[in-house]
Formats: sequence, C-alpha cells, structure tokens
Amino acid sequence: MNDRFLRACRKQPVDTVPVWIMRQAGRYLPEYMEVRRQHDFLTVCKTPELAAQVTLQPVDRLGVDAAILFSDILIPVEAMGVPLQFLEKKGPVLGQGVRDRSAVEALRVPDPVRSLGFVLDAIRVLRKRLADKVPLIGFSGLPFTLASYMVEGGKSKDFAALRSLMKDDRKAFASLMDKLTEATIAYLGAQISAGAQAVQIFDTWAGILEPAEYQARVFPYTCRVAEAVRGKGVPVIHFTESCAKLLPVLKDLPVDVLSIDWRVPLDQAAAAVGPKFVLQGNLAPEALFRPRAELEAAAGDILARGRKAGGHIFNLGHGILPKTDPEAAAALVAAVHRLGRK
Ligand code: CP3
Repeated sequence: MNDRFLRACRKQPVDTVPVWIMRQAGRYLPEYMEVRRQHDFLTVCKTPELAAQVTLQPVDRLGVDAAILFSDILIPVEAMGVPLQFLEKKGPVLGQGVRDRSAVEALRVPDPVRSLGFVLDAIRVLRKRLADKVPLIGFSGLPFTLASYMVEGGKSKDFAALRSLMKDDRKAFASLMDKLTEATIAYLGAQISAGAQAVQIFDTWAGILEPAEYQARVFPYTCRVAEAVRGKGVPVIHFTESCAKLLPVLKDLPVDVLSIDWRVPLDQAAAAVGPKFVLQGNLAPEALFRPRAELEAAAGDILARGRKAGGHIFNLGHGILPKTDPEAAAALVAAVHRLGRK
C-alpha cells in the first residue's frame, strides 16, 4: 500500500512528500461533470455507489497519495433538522436560519448510524474498492463553521446574524456550539468505525473572529472534537481558511496536522507553531493556471519552506478551482513527488 500520507501524518520517514488536493473530486474533472449531468449534488452525496465512484476519480487520474470521501460538511445539518438545498450559482441554502434559543433547542443530535448511514456505507464501499491502494480521509465541519451556515441560512459576506447571536444571546450560541460538538464527535467516530483512516476537520470561517474571541468561544469546542477523535487512534488534520492571526492559538490544538491557507508562507507558519506539527499546504489554487515551469517553481518553493516544519504534506491552500485543467493538477502531483524526494 502507498502509506506515505499516513506515515507523514505520524512523522514517520517517507520516500517523498505526499500530496493530495482539497476538493480533488469535483467540477474541474470532466468525469465528475458527466456524473453531475445525471444526478444533482445531494443525490451524489447520498448514494454510496455514486459517492464512491467520484471519490475514486482523482485517485485514478492524478496519482494523489490519499482519497477523501466525497460528501459535504453540510450533510449532517439536515440530520439535525435543518433543511438543506444546493442551488446552482447560489450554493448552499439552509432553512430559515437558526437564530434564537427555541430554534437551537429544536435541533437534534443525530445518531449517525441511523440518519447518516449513506456516508458510512460509502466509506465501507471505498475501503473495499481502494483495497489499501491509498488511505481514505473522512471529514467534518467544526462547530463554528457549521453554526455560521446554520445561523446565516447559507453563505454570508458579513456574518451579521451570527455576530448578533454571539453578542446578544451568549447562552443560545454556547448551546448551539455544544450540540454541534456532540453531533460532530458522534459523526466522526462513526466514520472512523466504518473505515476512515484519517480525518480532516474544517473550520473555514474561524478567521472572521479576533483571536481572543476565537480562543474563548470557539477553540474549546474544537479541542473537544479533536481530543475525542484522536482518542480513536487516527491522525487529525485541522483546516481554516484564514489562519495567519489564529496561529498563536492554533499551536495548542490537540491535532497532528495543521492545514495552512495560501496567505501564510509555510516556513513562517512553522516558526509560529513550532516543530510539534506536520503542516499541510499551501499552494495558491490559482498557481494551477500558470505555465508548467512556473507551477513547478512555485511547488518547489513550497517544498523548500515545508522542510522547516515538523513534517510536510503537500496540498493547495484552499480547494481546487472549477476552471482548473486536470492535466495541470496531474503535473503538480508528479512534480511534488519528484522534487520532494528524500
Ligand atoms: O475535498 C473533497 O474532494 C471532498 C468533498 C468536499 C466537498 N466540500 C464537495 C463539494 C469537501 C471536503 C467539502 C468541504 C466544504 N463544503 C467546506 C469546507 C472547505 C472549504 O472549501 O472551505 C465548505 C465551507 C463547504 C460548503 C459548500 N459546499 C459550499 C459553500 C458549496 C458551494 C460553493 C461551491 O464550491 O460550489 C459547496 C458545494 C460543493 N461541495 C461542491 C463540491 C464538489 C460543488 C457541488 C457541485 O457539484 O455543484
């Protein structure tokens, strides 16, 4: 088996730097669009056979060192009682917005085996089909980012409703975070029992908060999730989309790997968090639009900076863009394997 990715997560020696790509299954792949012409996004997520099929597409085409389950961080919110739709161009739309105590009280903490069985089935199908070719990563959103979508009812620019709930009803916000923490721990535990070999926890929007507020009102819930999951014996990767000013807080996270967005040079991130962490990242997704020689030079620069960290897993600094040429993505993976050789 190609276990480079898991070895790197655990700081064991590797022959070269492992690489995978956030959103590696998705709209830039013609074979994904072919599946999407016949099925909408949620149907793909909820049909284990289809979810498994698209998960494997980038593994076959790009030669990445890990597969990531095809799903979405918002899938469990539906099981909690919030209606979920994905609209073309608009993205996710979630019910009326969970904006007061009674709406928080109405949320369920679902039993993942009963209400998210399709995700667990997809994991089981994938472990069989991957036959240990590469490891399978499971994932979930973290309470704050899930709360932001639930409160706002979708994507937001200013997070006004979330900020006012945090300011005006501290108890309701804390109770929402508590429920999401419990739901997330149960969901990730079920993914690991079904066969996920590592998990990535996404807190995309944590960077909208000041570090002190993040530390007091979000970080403790993230720690609860991370500790519970780590207790199950798989590596945990933390991602936030704008991590620079949070690094002094994130350096105390009980996780193995910190995924760094493209705004922070990887060696600077390493200096901020110390050698304890393996860092993941962090090529800007736009670099894949550059001529091949420039793309390789940019990858080489990141590999050089990554040598200053406690360990390095190559990735983009955020999800791959839908206009990316799949050939560029394959060229990147090959370049990382070549240039990252030990
Ligand atoms: O990385 C992977 O390949 C695994 C699958 C995955 C998806 N979303 C598939 C997806 C993962 C890990 C996610 C995480 C996710 N989803 C995050 C956290 C990471 C990040 O990007 O910051 C967030 C915030 C979401 C919420 C979400 N899902 C939004 C805002 C949107 C609409 C915007 C967009 O990119 O289209 C989605 C839809 C979505 N999730 C798509 C895919 C492939 C596109 C759906 C389509 O086929 O039309």
